[in-house]
Amino acid sequence: MKAIVHRDHGGPDVLRLVERDLPEPGPGEVRVRVAVSAVNPTDVQGRSGNHGPRQFPEVIPHLDGAGVIDAVGEGVDRSRIGERVWLYLAAAGRPTGTAAEFTTVPADQAVPLPEQAGFEVGAALGVPALTAHRALTVAEDGPRRLRPGSMEGKVVLAAGGAGAVGHAVIQLARWAGATVISTVSGPDKARLATAAGAHHVVNYREGDPAAEIRTFAPDGVDLVAEVALGANLALDLAVLRPRGTISTYANDGGKPVELNVPQNMVLNTRLQFLVLYTAGPQARAAAVADVAAAVRDGALPVGEAHGLPLIRFPLDRTADAHRAMERGTVGKVLVDVAW
Ligand SMILES: NC(=O)c1ccc[n+]([C@@H]2O[C@H](COP(=O)([O-])OP(=O)(O)OC[C@H]3O[C@@H](n4cnc5c(N)ncnc54)[C@H](OP(=O)(O)O)[C@@H]3O)[C@@H](O)[C@H]2O)c1
Repeated sequence: MKAIVHRDHGGPDVLRLVERDLPEPGPGEVRVRVAVSAVNPTDVQGRSGNHGPRQFPEVIPHLDGAGVIDAVGEGVDRSRIGERVWLYLAAAGRPTGTAAEFTTVPADQAVPLPEQAGFEVGAALGVPALTAHRALTVAEDGPRRLRPGSMEGKVVLAAGGAGAVGHAVIQLARWAGATVISTVSGPDKARLATAAGAHHVVNYREGDPAAEIRTFAPDGVDLVAEVALGANLALDLAVLRPRGTISTYANDGGKPVELNVPQNMVLNTRLQFLVLYTAGPQARAAAVADVAAAVRDGALPVGEAHGLPLIRFPLDRTADAHRAMERGTVGKVLVDVAW
């Protein structure tokens, strides 16, 4: 099979197209013929060496993807052969990600993809959707699970709603019945966040964003899903309601976080940090189940018309896909492997 591999950490040039033997699924695993592989910031960070020393002599990158199960290992129901699936965390703790014609994963990391959802939808789910689910389900007063109506009456602020995770935050919160406000840095991103389903969009670089957000949420925001905590903490606290939650999945821009302890005490703020890798099996299983339900409802579409432009590369140009992500390309970077 054709596969992209890297043996060293470094820039996109370390990625090479090679021929490798077809992998055999081990006990409890499935083998998937990959249609679309997705690039996430974490894949680029892993390739660069930002995740620490090399664990394996050779790595096929990419956590997320979608395709069709073509073989199963011992203990897995053979009726799954032929099933369309989306994959998450494929390369987490393993050297075999989705940037290859075939990959193997534990059977529960291959989730049924309904016929009406394209492989590009499936490949775009994984990291962004599961992270968004976690961000939306950590408030003191719930909900712990997402389903239509579970966030009815809640106001969610999606920071940077034109980003891949921000997009999933908007879509999942909207599906769950929340009122969704998104911050963006300009008119193009405003258009994307609106297309994703945000009820209100606020340019965080202009005017008085806190006052503008307050006009949409006079009693304050229930939950902020935050991508840049250092840059936005003051804004978040200016719009958060008492006992509200700030769930932080990144600190883009790297601005140090200055915590005003008395202000947070008075607000009874819940400040929740999260990273998908260590969210724990319960949170992960809940996220997978709820995201799968949202996909069945057609609530997580992708593409420019739905607020997430797709930037696609063939497998042999995976290095260019990584370069596109490093340049900060707006939208979802995908690698077409087959079909
Ligand atoms: N914790 C986890 O498990 C987890 C999971 C997935 C991703 N992440 C991390 O989350 C970050 C985003 O990932 P992604 O895939 O969504 O990337 P992305 O598609 O590049 O989106 C990043 C978004 O953040 C916005 N942004 C940056 N600074 C901002 C600010 N000060 N205020 C508001 N928005 C701001 C950007 O918009 P503007 O440029 O217009 O501001 C952009 O839309 C990355 O650092 C990634 O590593 C963490």
